[in-house]
Amino acid sequence: MKRIMLAAGGVLLVCGLAQGAGLRDLAQKRGFLIGGAMRLYPETLADPQYLPTFAREFNVVVPEHVMKFRDTQPKENVYDFRKADFLVKFAEDHGMKVRGHTLVWHEAVPDWVEAYKGSSETLREILKDHITTEVGYFKGRILAWDVVNEAVAKDGSLAPDAGPWPRIDQGRALGGYIADAFRWAHAADPKALLFYNDWGAEQLGAKSDGVYALLKRLRAQGVPVDGVGFQAHIDYDEPVSEDSLRANFKRFSDLGLIIHITEMDFGIPDKLRSDPKALAKQADVYRLFLKVCLETPRCQAFLTWGLTDKYSWIDEGGEDTAPLLLDKDYRPKPAYAAVKALLRRP
Ligand code: XIL
Repeated sequence: MKRIMLAAGGVLLVCGLAQGAGLRDLAQKRGFLIGGAMRLYPETLADPQYLPTFAREFNVVVPEHVMKFRDTQPKENVYDFRKADFLVKFAEDHGMKVRGHTLVWHEAVPDWVEAYKGSSETLREILKDHITTEVGYFKGRILAWDVVNEAVAKDGSLAPDAGPWPRIDQGRALGGYIADAFRWAHAADPKALLFYNDWGAEQLGAKSDGVYALLKRLRAQGVPVDGVGFQAHIDYDEPVSEDSLRANFKRFSDLGLIIHITEMDFGIPDKLRSDPKALAKQADVYRLFLKVCLETPRCQAFLTWGLTDKYSWIDEGGEDTAPLLLDKDYRPKPAYAAVKALLRRP
């Protein structure tokens, strides 16, 4: 089979660190990972503050796009790892860990897979090849992979419409493709931690019951799943209960799983974007999540879905805005101060 693989060969120079201690120094001292999603678009790369602020604030980074199936295998047998190479090298050059995101996700399926009309057996081979190639390519350099993303529906059932992938299960119980994905990833990089990642499963409820049941079953079957990622995209009016978070984190820990908060953000309705009360509420919610994480021994990482309010997916069409720790001018918000204070606490 002919295969084209594009990889970055050149030397990448990134300017020096901005001054001042960031969150990472405090996290480092307590053996904790603090991080965010990096967007590799022309405007972020042209922004002189963007990359240095990552290196100053975070000791773990996750790509917002460039490791997704659509980006890494845009055509059948054509792999493009150039942007992902850039990110991994940046992380290594700055002593940061990498979370790999994500191998199986119905919203990042390339057109050629979406349009695929072949048998479920050959579709299975396509997924196996993708996981084996991507995880193998970065072997030894990725702390944790989000192997499967968002495969559970809101009611806790396994989503039969999770893109083309459930079709692989024809003739088997739904969910076989999930177990396979973890096995293939493990074979390609036995030392990487393998995660199931989802939204809306942070607290007790139908969805988290479904994720819990799935992971319990996979663990009982000896499937190599090491962790659960709680995305923590929290809506402004969503009730968040400390007890519920804590109890939920505990039951997943008790399965022997590691927990990462993988994509936290908290958008503010546009008209309240500079309202001190709204910013204080945002700080409270960040504080609550990080506090429960720090108090749960198996919760080992806390990442936000972005770095600065200047660049966020929340602004891609929604009514909310300003969801992150730094404002559009890279100034720390109350939420940043809340995170910093907690990391400083013994
Ligand atoms: C989002 C990106 O931020 C957007 O730019 C893109 O259009 C869609 O994907 N859950 C996930 C992330 O696991 O991969 C998503 O990222 C946000 C929701």
